[in-house]
Amino acid sequence: MKISVIGAGYVGLTTAACLAQIGHDVFCSESDAEKLNKLQNGLMPLFEPHLEKVIQQVRAAGRLTFGTTDQAIEHGKAIFICVGTPPLPNGDADLSAIERVARSIAKQATGYRLVIEKSTVPVQTGSQLRKHLAVHGTNAWDYDVASNPEFLREGSAVEDFLHPDRIVIGVESTRAAELLREIYAPILKGNFTCPVHADCKPTKEPLLLMTDTNSAELIKHASNSFLAMKISFINMVANLCEVVRADVTKVAEGMGLDPRIGPSFLNPGIGFGGFCFPKDVQAFIRIAEKSGCDFSLLREVEKINQERIAHFVETIRRELWVLRGKKLALWGLAFKPNTDDVRFAPSIALISKLMEEGATIKAYDPEAMEKAREVLPEVHYCADPYEAAEGADAILIVTEWAEFREVNWTRVASIAEHRLIIDGRNMLSAKEVTCHGFHYVSVGRSSHGPAKEPVRDAVRQPEKAESEQVNLTA
Ligand code: UDX
Repeated sequence: MKISVIGAGYVGLTTAACLAQIGHDVFCSESDAEKLNKLQNGLMPLFEPHLEKVIQQVRAAGRLTFGTTDQAIEHGKAIFICVGTPPLPNGDADLSAIERVARSIAKQATGYRLVIEKSTVPVQTGSQLRKHLAVHGTNAWDYDVASNPEFLREGSAVEDFLHPDRIVIGVESTRAAELLREIYAPILKGNFTCPVHADCKPTKEPLLLMTDTNSAELIKHASNSFLAMKISFINMVANLCEVVRADVTKVAEGMGLDPRIGPSFLNPGIGFGGFCFPKDVQAFIRIAEKSGCDFSLLREVEKINQERIAHFVETIRRELWVLRGKKLALWGLAFKPNTDDVRFAPSIALISKLMEEGATIKAYDPEAMEKAREVLPEVHYCADPYEAAEGADAILIVTEWAEFREVNWTRVASIAEHRLIIDGRNMLSAKEVTCHGFHYVSVGRSSHGPAKEPVRDAVRQPEKAESEQVNLTA
């Protein structure tokens, strides 16, 4: 099918490349001239595993072309809108880019178009789009509007697109439903060449869930907010573990064995980041607020996440006492491994805080340094983890890149000023690094002093209260 994708960010570019990979004739547009120029010249504007290879192959096969929005509107019968919906200062999603695209479609389409929102949008955006297309349409064409939220994760986007757990489609007409079924048929039937796995044999068919557009839009915000809540929950459990000397890894393992809870998204650390969770939680709170529902639970999720950096800085301070003048090696800048994305990455807030306190930072990240430099030009960026560790008073692990497990610890031990590792992602083996003489501090696994006595509840401890009373009167 002739398909257009508007917006070549992580979602749009992956969607365009993968739709071409499964056999469609795809046109992808990008409004940023520099980015478009790169794409038209075979260069990647972002790092995402497997994506470059897929793009090269489908471009060579003539199934993927890059160009302008106008050309995209002309090309596709189905148009996926994948433009950004960044947060406004009040937490609402900024829908101006979506509105602009809808207006252009209404004015320029030369036939029927199925307009599919893939960008994360507030509930009822679909009905707004429908109205907008009707109001601005200068021709007699009709439109369908569908919601098809994406659940792909940066770092495994290609894999997630081609092997999804579920495909959610929100439609209001059978025509839209049939077109979307046709678009996703190769994925639903496992009938495509997988660029990720050599002998790909999907074990189970992905589930196709058809709903109305409002419900599909809500599924996306509710899913991301729920996952964010899981992370904040385990981060609070980690705080508790640090005080009472329990091991959060074991607690998470024990919880995750219950199939109703599940093991994923229970890794504690310095908080969630990226361009989805922080803005989606914020937007969901606002959506609820505007609908008269007080989703205070999510405000706590957000608050707990914001406190992660201050908590981590306190951990560093406890180890180093004074931060002014300390040399810190920061390993990892991206908001998570396998991406170069630093948007809302905990590393940004952490570095700013540490610099404010007078520490100097030498940072290394395998992919994200170019993007980090744009926001934090004053940091000294290093060629590898060793250069960062040279003369360091502490090594801070901020992103769990696999290569940090493979470093030569003997070499690191010989060049660091102090053998101290503060692991904000619990990624290293305590046994291995302590063997090399490092003091190892991680999240939710206190390495400090005896446990504090939990504060007893007077109602649950009547005997103690009574005996204290006796002592007082004696
Ligand atoms: C997320 C959703 O997972 C995806 O479905 C949606 O389409 C887009 O948003 P992404 O932002 O790429 O994807 O990253 P994800 O892997 O979900 O991680 C988000 C953040 O949570 C990262 O900062 C990560 O480090 C953090 N995280 C994740 C934790 O701190 N602990 C965990 O257990 C899991």
